[in-house]
Amino acid sequence: QRHLTSAADLTRDDALLVLDTAEEMARVADRPIKKLPTLRGRTVVNLFFEDSTRTRISFEAAAKRLSADVINFSAKGSSVSKGESLKDTALTLEAMGADAVVIRHHDSGAPHRLATSGWIGGSVVNAGDGTHEHPTQALLDAFTMRRHLAGAPDGGPAPHGAPGDGTGRDLAGRRITIVGDVLHSRVARSNVHLLTTLGAEVTLVAPPTLVPIGVGNWPCEVSYDLDAVLAKSDAVMMLRVQRERMNAAFFPTEREYARRYGLNSDRMARMPGHAIVMHPGPMNRGMEITAEVADSERCTAVEQVANGVSIRMAVLYLLLGGAGPAVTGTPDTTT
Ligand code: CP
Repeated sequence: QRHLTSAADLTRDDALLVLDTAEEMARVADRPIKKLPTLRGRTVVNLFFEDSTRTRISFEAAAKRLSADVINFSAKGSSVSKGESLKDTALTLEAMGADAVVIRHHDSGAPHRLATSGWIGGSVVNAGDGTHEHPTQALLDAFTMRRHLAGAPDGGPAPHGAPGDGTGRDLAGRRITIVGDVLHSRVARSNVHLLTTLGAEVTLVAPPTLVPIGVGNWPCEVSYDLDAVLAKSDAVMMLRVQRERMNAAFFPTEREYARRYGLNSDRMARMPGHAIVMHPGPMNRGMEITAEVADSERCTAVEQVANGVSIRMAVLYLLLGGAGPAVTGTPDTTT
């Protein structure tokens, strides 16, 4: 593939290739010199129309570790604020010779539009579009789950009797619970696609007003009772409540939300001993997750950020046509 705009486009083999390549990239982080010459001479543009901390910084770190030149574009302070269109912005980037454009946009479908428009010749990577998808977040989440739950790369067979491929490379039979503001969550949608492609069983838990119309067509279960699913979850992923995208009339009070759908220590204690707590960040401490749970050893939120660099290195490497093994040769000591 030349673009990554949706986790739904990834086959099982595509996803495993990204995860396995990211394992190789993670080993680079353990080297004294964390830089590879792989993408020297290539240009990666980070095109962010919406705020970001983790995704933007980790794409920048990933591109720099592969020795690419990086241009960071933020809509704030650019000619977008004077009304410049996505098309004219894209044509400007094309004129600067972008080999890959990493785009975050408030409109669902903007990355797909960029990838299919012909405005740019390089690869397009979706870094989060509206309430639609966030495929690299799902990949880093799957990478984190695999490390904890599948004993990657050569762990034993999956639990719950599911055979998987017997190598621990996929998530066959793992039970993943995704909790909270599913309605506005591109993270949830991408995770449902990717995790089921990797063989996991996904359950969404949300207040009825925060479940998307059409969720019946998603390959997952839906529950309104968090306490009923905790004991059979291998991972519990808490979603950020996205108040900025929400009509206040649809939202219970913060206290009521935390009481019914928040993860606190009592609830965490009801999870199996091996189960992990995940959060894509940024977190609303005290709402969907208590500070005690967020700071506990079972919460992988910070580890997810670190894994994001390895995943984004793998994605850039694979899209920009890296030939041969991802991590070979001598580290780049020239820059
Ligand atoms: N998880 C995530 O996308 O975080 P940022 O909005 O900080 O990039």
